[in-house]
Amino acid sequence: MADWTDCLNFGISIAKQASEVVLSAFQQHKEVKLKSSPADLVTETDQRVEKILISAIRNRYPQHRFIGEESVAAGEHLELTDSPTWIIDPIDGTVNFVHRFPFVAISIAFTVNRQTQFGIVYSCVEDKLFYAQRGGGAFLNGEPLHASGQQDISRCVVVTEIGAERDDVALSTMTSNIRRLLQFPVHGVRALGTAAVDMCQVATGGADAYYHIGMHCWDIAASAIIVQEAGGVVMDTDGSEFDMMSRRVIAASSAAVADRIAQVIQAFPCCRDDED
Ligand code: IPD
Repeated sequence: MADWTDCLNFGISIAKQASEVVLSAFQQHKEVKLKSSPADLVTETDQRVEKILISAIRNRYPQHRFIGEESVAAGEHLELTDSPTWIIDPIDGTVNFVHRFPFVAISIAFTVNRQTQFGIVYSCVEDKLFYAQRGGGAFLNGEPLHASGQQDISRCVVVTEIGAERDDVALSTMTSNIRRLLQFPVHGVRALGTAAVDMCQVATGGADAYYHIGMHCWDIAASAIIVQEAGGVVMDTDGSEFDMMSRRVIAASSAAVADRIAQVIQAFPCCRDDED
């Protein structure tokens, strides 16, 4: 079996370098543009950081392919193939970045034969580096991570997001999902504004579950393997196998908690990432 440790170490080193660009722009005024909705934002720093990451990786691994949030937004075709592929979100939590709400992350996943080999989530302001390699465990700043193992939904802290969708069906589905969870009752519902960092909370055991509808593959590809390697469970919101292109995910401390959430939440329709 191929060993991708060299790629993982390279990914970590460029995530740290790119983080300096994010941090130096964090307190500054930003020129903001809208993408798919008034709550889907992009700044010059998102685009710049993605270019820095892709050109560094391309120099070192010229045969590798890329799926990058801002490249796709600029019209690049999104296709996950069997080739080694880097899936990049240069700033996960762009709304946070614009408002200086201190949770923003660089998210990098690496797939071969469409299977994720490693994931890196660097929470820049917190200076927290989450990473995991297939079969090698998950780590936060070098310390092993373990999901809580919680089995009882009524004892869970659940993280979710109200994403960029603002149409009636999406809003009523998102709010009624939260209402149904609160009725279990769960201990609490939280949202940090970055899918990648939200999901890593399940890997730390600080949260017991996370679910989200409407995010994209670059938001969650890296954190999914981090949760799995920390002993957690990742699945689709309909209870089927996790599919990073489906735009639906549940990550949980145990299969029991993931199944319970899948039973009560509903998804609103959204186009798959790999469909035009
Ligand atoms: C967004 C964040 C947010 C989530 C959205 C994502 P971006 O990513 O992860 O938490 O609710 O669905 O699109 O645009 O900041 O990279």
